[in-house]
Amino acid sequence: MIGRLNHIGVATPSIDAAIPLYRDLLGATEIGEKFAMEAQGVLVCFVTLPNSQIELIEPYGEASPIHGFLARNPAGGQHHVCFEVPDIYVARDEMRAKGATVLGEPRIGAHGTPVIFLHPKNMGGVLVELMETPKGAH
Ligand code: CO
Repeated sequence: MIGRLNHIGVATPSIDAAIPLYRDLLGATEIGEKFAMEAQGVLVCFVTLPNSQIELIEPYGEASPIHGFLARNPAGGQHHVCFEVPDIYVARDEMRAKGATVLGEPRIGAHGTPVIFLHPKNMGGVLVELMETPKGAH
């Protein structure tokens, strides 16, 4: 069963251009440093809110999976939602058994714990990330 909403992924052509929207317009005060996740082809920056986070995602490299999304949404936009689960392998097996399309195998996500993605085609159009709750969190 899904737990806490960990973050909402927002794709953007430029994290540097997106940060002022959250910091200056919306008043977010806790904005992390952006960092590259080379294997995933993304730059990531977390905006921490009292109850969740926004994960800003910018393409990194020519093969980035975000290029396609930005081609369809040039200004950027909401890309995925991420829910926490207690155990990623249990979640993967359960999702498959229930008919969801699990994209790939668990791999380490931006928070350092394993994640999987569920294809939007049988998730009501929403790309869903499931992330194992970090040990000692909450
Ligand atoms: Co994410």
